[in-house]
Amino acid sequence: MEKIQETVDFINSKTNNFKPRFAVILGSGLGCFCDGLDGINIPYEIIPNFAQSTVEGHKGELFFTKIDNKDTVVMKGRFHYYEGYSMDEIIYPIRVFKELGVEYLFITNAAGATNKNYKIGDIMMLDDHINFLGTNPLIGKHDKKGDRFPSMDDIYCDELKNLALNCACDLNIDIIKGVYLAVSGPCYETKAEIKAYRTLGADAVGMSSVPEAIMANYLKMKIAAFSLITNYATGVSKHIPNHQEVLETGQKSGKKLADLIKRMIHKID
Ligand code: HPA
Repeated sequence: MEKIQETVDFINSKTNNFKPRFAVILGSGLGCFCDGLDGINIPYEIIPNFAQSTVEGHKGELFFTKIDNKDTVVMKGRFHYYEGYSMDEIIYPIRVFKELGVEYLFITNAAGATNKNYKIGDIMMLDDHINFLGTNPLIGKHDKKGDRFPSMDDIYCDELKNLALNCACDLNIDIIKGVYLAVSGPCYETKAEIKAYRTLGADAVGMSSVPEAIMANYLKMKIAAFSLITNYATGVSKHIPNHQEVLETGQKSGKKLADLIKRMIHKID
C-alpha cells in the first residue's frame, strides 16, 4: 500500500491531480488510439515501482488525456507474464488506477483466432475468458480491497457489453462476442493445443489481459475487453503466426477499435 501511495503521489505531482474515471490498456500495435489526443506522457521508467515494457509494439508510457472532456489514463504498453514479470508486477498499474479513481477499465489485446469463422481484422468483444496461465494475480495474502473469493460471473459486465454493441451500431462497425483463452506464451501454440482450446470453448487465444481483468474485477471496476484478431492460431489456417503480422494488423485495423472505445467513453455519464 505504501508503494502504491508513492506511485500515486508521483503521478499526481506530474499531472496536477488528474482524476481519471476511465482507463484504457493498449495491446500490441494499438498505439493509434492516442493519435490526435493531447495530454501528459509519463514514461514507465521514471514512475516509482512500475515495471518496464520490453516488447516491440509496446511503448511503455502512461498517457493522461481527456476524451470528450473526461479524464482518462491510457497505458501505452502492458506487462506480460512471458517477459518474466510476476503477477504482482503485471497488475500493479490496476491497483494504482483504482487509487487514482478509475471506475471503468477498457482492455485491448491482439489475439489469434481459434474460431475458423473469424476474419483477420475482426474485433471480438470478450464475452468471457478461460484462464490457462496456470496462476492467478489474487494468490497471496488477502489485502481486503475486495472479496477473498470474488465472483467472476459478470467480469465483463453486461452493461458495457450492451453499450459496446450500441456504439458499434452507431459507428457502423461489426463486433463479435467470443471467449478469450489466455496462455503464458511466449511460444505460439502447437496445433494440438489449439485444437484442445477450441474444444474447450475458446474463440481466440492470446498472452495477456486476464491478469488485469481479474484484478480489476476484484477491485469492483467495470470492465470491457476487446481482442483484435490479428492472425489465425496455429493449425487453423496453413499460415504460421508471427509477431510482425500481429503488429501490422494492429496498425491496419486498430483504428476502428480505438473509435469504438472513445465512443463508449463519450456515452458514459
Ligand atoms: N497466439 C497467442 N497469442 C497471440 C496470437 C496467437 O496466435 N496472436 C496474437 N497474440
